[in-house]
Amino acid sequence: MIILGIETSCDETSVAILNNKEVISSFTFSQADIHAVFGGVVPEVASRNHLMKIKPLFDKALAHAGMKAEDIDLIAVTSAPGLIGSLFVGVSFAKGLAYALDKPIMDVHHLAGHILSAELSDSSLKPPYIALVVSGGHTHIYKVTDKPLNFTLLGRTIDDAAGEAFDKVSKMLGGSYPGGPFVEKLAVTGNNAAIPFPIALKKEDNFSFSGLKTAVLNQVQRGDYSAEDIAASFQHTVAKTLYLKTSRIALKEKINSMVVSGGVACNKALRNYFSENGEKDKLVIHFPAFDLCNDNAAMIAYAAYRMSEGVDINIYKDLGFAAGDTRHEISAP
Ligand code: KG4
Ligand code: ZN
Repeated sequence: MIILGIETSCDETSVAILNNKEVISSFTFSQADIHAVFGGVVPEVASRNHLMKIKPLFDKALAHAGMKAEDIDLIAVTSAPGLIGSLFVGVSFAKGLAYALDKPIMDVHHLAGHILSAELSDSSLKPPYIALVVSGGHTHIYKVTDKPLNFTLLGRTIDDAAGEAFDKVSKMLGGSYPGGPFVEKLAVTGNNAAIPFPIALKKEDNFSFSGLKTAVLNQVQRGDYSAEDIAASFQHTVAKTLYLKTSRIALKEKINSMVVSGGVACNKALRNYFSENGEKDKLVIHFPAFDLCNDNAAMIAYAAYRMSEGVDINIYKDLGFAAGDTRHEISAP
């Protein structure tokens, strides 16, 4: 089955073609440089850039795969959550194609893509596993069981997402958007034990990063430590916090397989922290390949593949859904 994936929920325009679980082509245009001058994503600018990029990326993906539009069996598009104007571009493009080609179309929850993305990198990975999605909008822990979309929310941030904290700390330290890569680079020469930042809600399964953000701001204003030491200590505290709660849940659930996905999972210090501690706790940690951590259409097409297993895809010949809605709600806002 040939699946076309489309992702435009935030500031990445992405189109991918999968043959079942195999990625045949995948092209992403990141608008990060365009938004960097504003210090964050400007929704209207994002939608206009999606509009300019989506058709050229679709043509490129087809050409790279050596396929025609008619060869597509199923269209998968991120329908929620995300910036409404951005979602609207992808959903409208996908609906137009589905109508013109008379093909089924599946609306995919963005988080389903992130949750399942590690399976795309490692075909031996099978549920059950505990998935930690750490991105700019989410820091959510799910239990993933055998049925597709059978995701149980076990913990989440009650305020900022981990990626959002990286973006804000980057700004405090003079960096640009997106903040994660800037903070990670600065942290390389810093001492991660210089400042003992606090771990919020230590005994609970939920996260809170707003106190950490304020603690970093206080240190920046006090000026006692270098930007490198602040970045390294902050990054280490985020990794420790994420691992502490996710591993505790995994051990409680008696599930020894864990996935860490989403943009923040690009962070190498975080990956090392999880791998080293996972080994001690007898937990097997899986990360998607780097290009599958940030927003991408391959993970959306893959989620559609998983959702279509054992199902007649013609049930998806229905254009009656809107950008911002999903017919496959999972327990997340
Ligand atoms: O998954 P993603 O591309 O988009 C959302 O769904 O939000 O994640 C973007 C987030 C941003 O907050 C960005 O700063 C963070 O991922 N990020 C990182 C790194 N690369 C991206 N955070 C820490 N270290 C990184 N290397
Ligand atoms: Zn995302």
